[in-house]
Amino acid sequence: MPRWSLIPSRYQYLGEAKVGGQSTVRFYRDKRLERDVAIKLINDIRDMKRMRGEVRALSSIRSKHVIEVYDLLDTPSSLDFALLTERLSGHDLSSWRARYASNGDLVAPLLKIAFQISAGLSDVHAAGVTHGDVNPTNMREDSNGIVKLFDFGLARFVGAVTTNTFIGTRGFAAPECYTTHEAISQASDSYAYAATILWLAEGSLPAELLSVPSSIPSSSLTRLRSWGVPEDFVQLLERCFSASGGARPPLVEIRSALHNELIRGRHRGRLCSSSNSYELSTSHNGIQIKAGTLGDAIITYDSLHFNVNPMSGSVAVNSQLITAPMRLPASSVLAFGDPSEGAARRYYTFDVSHPEVVL
Ligand SMILES: Nc1ncnc2c1ncn2[C@@H]1O[C@H](COP(=O)(O)OP(=O)(O)OP(=O)(O)O)[C@@H](O)[C@H]1O
Ligand SMILES: [Mg+2]
Repeated sequence: MPRWSLIPSRYQYLGEAKVGGQSTVRFYRDKRLERDVAIKLINDIRDMKRMRGEVRALSSIRSKHVIEVYDLLDTPSSLDFALLTERLSGHDLSSWRARYASNGDLVAPLLKIAFQISAGLSDVHAAGVTHGDVNPTNMREDSNGIVKLFDFGLARFVGAVTTNTFIGTRGFAAPECYTTHEAISQASDSYAYAATILWLAEGSLPAELLSVPSSIPSSSLTRLRSWGVPEDFVQLLERCFSASGGARPPLVEIRSALHNELIRGRHRGRLCSSSNSYELSTSHNGIQIKAGTLGDAIITYDSLHFNVNPMSGSVAVNSQLITAPMRLPASSVLAFGDPSEGAARRYYTFDVSHPEVVL
C-alpha cells in the first residue's frame, strides 16, 4: 500500500497491524516523543466521508474514556489523511470475562467496567455525538487498564441522520437500526451499551438479542440478579432493551447510578464546633448533637448522603430554620438556638469528603 510509505520517518513502524472492515490500523513508535501511537488509514479512499466524520466527532469530545487524537497526517491527495491517536496497549475485551471469572467475583469488576463505558458514552453524548457502533471490539484498555472507546466511523451529530440500510453490529444494534428511515439516536447507544454489558458478563450475546426483532434477554438479567448485581442497575439495563428509544435511560443516568454504587459507604463527614470534632462514616453512622435548651438534632449517614433530623429547640442549616428531616448539604453550617439568643447560639461546621471511583 503506497500510502503507508508516506508516513513521516519520525514514526517507526513496529511491524504490527490490524485490518478492520473499513480501515487498517498500524502501530508505530513516535521517536520524537518516545511513545507508541496508532495510525489509521481508510482502506478505500471513496469511504473518506466516514473518516472525516470520525475526526469531526473525536475532535469535539473530551473524555478520559475516549481515545485521544494526537494528529492528522496529510497524504499527497488532498482528499486523504491518516488519523494518529494514542495506542491502547492494554487488553482487548475478548479476554475480560476469563480474567475475572476465575477470581470468583465478577460483580465488582463488572460494575467498574460498566461505569467506565457509561462515563465514556455520556461524555460522547454530552458533546452532541452518537457513537453508532457500540460493541466490545470498539473499546479497549490502555496501559493503565483504563477502558477507552474508539472507532467513531459511524458516529454522527444529534439529529443528523436517518438510516436507509442497516448500519452497526448485529446483536448490539438497536431495533431501529434495522428499519429504514428511522432516526438513530443516543438511545440506540443505550441499547448497544446494555448488550455490551451482557456480553461481558456472560462471554457471549444472549439469543434474544440475536433474533430480529430482538426481545428482552430475561434469563441473562435474572442471572445478573442471582450473582448480586444491584437491582437498580439490572433495571436500568432492562429499560435499555425497550423497543422504543424514548423508554431507554440516557447514559448519564446510568453513569450516575454506577458512580453512586461504586462510592457507596466511602464518604467521611466531619462536624466541628469551636471545641469538638466528630467524624461520621459507615462505621460511625449517626450522632446526636445536644446544645442544651438551644436545640438538638440527629445527623446520620445512609452510605450515600448525610441527613439531619431536628429534635427540639431551634436548628438552622445555612441560616434556614429546619423543622423536618433533610439532606445535609456537603458543606454547611448548623446553628442551634433562636437568632434572638445572639452570642449564646452554638455553631457547627459540616464538611464531606468527595470519594472518587477507584478503577
Ligand atoms: N488506538 C488503538 N490502539 C490499539 N488498537 C487499536 C487502536 N485503534 C484500533 N485498534 C484495533 O484495530 C481494530 C480496527 O480499528 P477500528 O475499529 O477503528 O477500525 P474499523 O475499520 O472501523 O474496524 P471495523 O469496521 O472492523 O470495526 C480494532 O478492533 C482494534 O483491535
Ligand atoms: Mg471497529
